[in-house]
Amino acid sequence: MAIDHQTSVLPPKLRIDGLAKRYGNFTALEPTQLEVHSGEFLTLLGPSGSGKTTLLQLVCGLVDASEGSIFIDGIEQSNVPVHRRDIGLVFQHYALFPHLTVSENIGFPLKMRGVPDSQIKTRVNTALEMVHLGSLANRFPKELSGGQQQRVALARCFVYQPSIILMDEPLGALDKKLRDQMQIEIKRLHRESGATIIYVTHDQEEALALSDRICLMNHARIEQIGTPREIYMNPCSAFAADFIGISNILRGSIQIDQNRNSWLVTSYGRFLLPAGVSKEMVSGAVVVRPEHLTFDATSPNTLRATVRDLVYAGSETRVIATLDDGQDVIVRQPPDIEVPGRGSSITLGWQAERAVVIP
Ligand SMILES: Nc1ncnc2c1ncn2[C@@H]1O[C@H](COP(=O)(O)OP(=O)(O)O)[C@@H](O)[C@H]1O
Ligand SMILES: [Mg+2]
Repeated sequence: MAIDHQTSVLPPKLRIDGLAKRYGNFTALEPTQLEVHSGEFLTLLGPSGSGKTTLLQLVCGLVDASEGSIFIDGIEQSNVPVHRRDIGLVFQHYALFPHLTVSENIGFPLKMRGVPDSQIKTRVNTALEMVHLGSLANRFPKELSGGQQQRVALARCFVYQPSIILMDEPLGALDKKLRDQMQIEIKRLHRESGATIIYVTHDQEEALALSDRICLMNHARIEQIGTPREIYMNPCSAFAADFIGISNILRGSIQIDQNRNSWLVTSYGRFLLPAGVSKEMVSGAVVVRPEHLTFDATSPNTLRATVRDLVYAGSETRVIATLDDGQDVIVRQPPDIEVPGRGSSITLGWQAERAVVIP
């Protein structure tokens, strides 16, 4: 198909190639490869200090790379100054101009770009409607709540229609309820604008809710990239398994029997592993998600534990059980299923194919 062909020959919206940042002896970003597609919502997710902000600052040109290159629409950016890159920025702290009204703040980037006043008025009004702030157009930033200020910051970014928008923990200063509302707004703005968004957060729920793909970062490098579902279903490491969702991780040595089945040998017993485990692996761990553990003692893989706590969370019941050596495992059950009480000895089971093997 002609369209498919055309899509496949277009360069990615953003490509970074071997991009790295060092401050003296300290590495803030290891040499990194990344491609972001046009119109994609990609989230950089990771703990504090993992290099997320550094990566964004490199992309927009606020800091210089120690090595590597950045391409936007296939064009290398090292000689393109910050204000010439077709990039919008939204940060955690709104950085609105205190002496300008809401309308003037939103119109500012258009004025800077020499857009005629008559057009500015129309585009500011459209942007105000987009973030539902039409009635507050003449207020000053100090007369707005935190959520309203962050909406102004979003409108000020979307108003000049940059093709890439970088957002660094933009909802970090807001309370949970407002954050949930604003996530929906950001999703809608993304859809309506068609912009490519690179979004930074340390909050896995936020990343899961917003992203087409998640780029999981740890210790100045990319740990795993994939759709939220891919990372949840197939974490590549204990870090990834732990950071996205809740995981039960059991470690041991790996053995292959005469039928070529792989087994994990642990202090809790011997567990059949899913097919396809690399023959080179001599030790490792299985990740079993809480929803894949059942109270079925006839499962091929079983684990004895003692119920330590029950958490009723409305839509599910979480059973926290302790293994012989004190490690906790978590079981998630539908709310209508009766679960054993605190202190009960239980046998948990799981299907081999439900588990994921990690190094
Ligand atoms: N200007 C700087 N000078 C020295 N170290 C820095 C500088 N900026 C960031 N770092 C360090 O680089 C690491 C990554 O920082 P950052 O990218 O801000 O992490 P994140 O946004 O994931 O929390 C941190 O350890 C931070 O202290
Ligand atoms: Mg940061």
